[in-house]
Amino acid sequence: MKAIAVTRATKAVGIIDLPEPEISSATDVKLRMLEAGVCGTDREICAFEYGTPPQGSPQLVIGHESLGQVQEVGSQVTRVKLGDLVVPMVRRPCPHDYCVACRSGRQDFCFTGDFRERGIKEQHGFMAQFVVDDEQYMNPIPQHLRDTAVLVEPLTIAEKGLAQVWQVQARLPWGCPVLPDRPQAHCHKAVVLGAGPVGLLGAMALVNAGFDTHVYAREPLPNLKSAVLEMIGAKYLSAETHSLEDLANAAGNVDLVYEATGASRLAFDMMKFLGPNGIFIFTGVPGRRGKVEVDTDLIMRNLVLRNQVIFGTVNAGRDAFEAAVRDIGIFSQRWPQAVSSLITGRFPIREYRDLLLGPSAGIKNVIELN
Ligand code: BGC
Ligand code: ZN
Repeated sequence: MKAIAVTRATKAVGIIDLPEPEISSATDVKLRMLEAGVCGTDREICAFEYGTPPQGSPQLVIGHESLGQVQEVGSQVTRVKLGDLVVPMVRRPCPHDYCVACRSGRQDFCFTGDFRERGIKEQHGFMAQFVVDDEQYMNPIPQHLRDTAVLVEPLTIAEKGLAQVWQVQARLPWGCPVLPDRPQAHCHKAVVLGAGPVGLLGAMALVNAGFDTHVYAREPLPNLKSAVLEMIGAKYLSAETHSLEDLANAAGNVDLVYEATGASRLAFDMMKFLGPNGIFIFTGVPGRRGKVEVDTDLIMRNLVLRNQVIFGTVNAGRDAFEAAVRDIGIFSQRWPQAVSSLITGRFPIREYRDLLLGPSAGIKNVIELN
């Protein structure tokens, strides 16, 4: 079978031929992979800035955003059946018995760092024609979500973030008055930094939860991303024409910041505009650039005097995948055009080179694997 792999020793990125994986346990599932999404992490791995191959392998098959179809099941599989559409989870638990997170199925909170991630860290990924894995990592997808399900994995980042927001805010009286026909967070305001796929899917999740949402990103108006945001009722401000101060003035009292750029300077500059009892969520993984000066006194004063919380979030557990499957369904019904315009292209596997190594273009590009 064909797979897209990186080889560090020879600095090669290309299509390789691998033996088709076969079911080896009663709870294994074999997927015929339909699609894989290309993301910044894949592009970093292809630039040899990130990613670790499986032990003993010179190569790493990349890909962690995917959609497959069940082709074969082990004799004890109950979660999925032949023909089902499936989005597999990314992270696999570490082996240590003292890691309570991994031992509880919450490897997204692994303590030891010895987890593996398919397509990223020590395990082959999903940009391959076939994949075998245990049924416990499979998320069944309703057939009518065939065309958007590849967005489930990137949406899990927002879902895990939002689940933590509700948990953290249970510390105080924060809930909006319950009104008929108004969503949960109808009285709150959110700012999203960045309008890549993570930022746009985050904005959809926030608008859907009721937040009045402003998105701040580089490109001047109008552009593909601002068009998507307009369709969902979020406001777009370009960094070319607006300062963070303008953003804060437009947004009003900022209850939540969802950072989705990986630009640390911008994020730390934004912190001073976070409102009382506000939450700041980091999702980006910045490269190590030069040092940046930050006003730590101001940040610390605000954190204390305004009861603020900052947290980082990575990867996602089963609950976030389930929420993402549900919400992709809701978004597709509510904003069909916005959701479909997130996928800016579907390409045959042989066109991998431009997508992974060329200048990044569009919003979410997808590789068709079979
Ligand atoms: C993936 C996560 C993963 C993270 C760090 C992201 O692109 O969506 O599942 O945990 O990279 O490796
Ligand atoms: Zn662990």
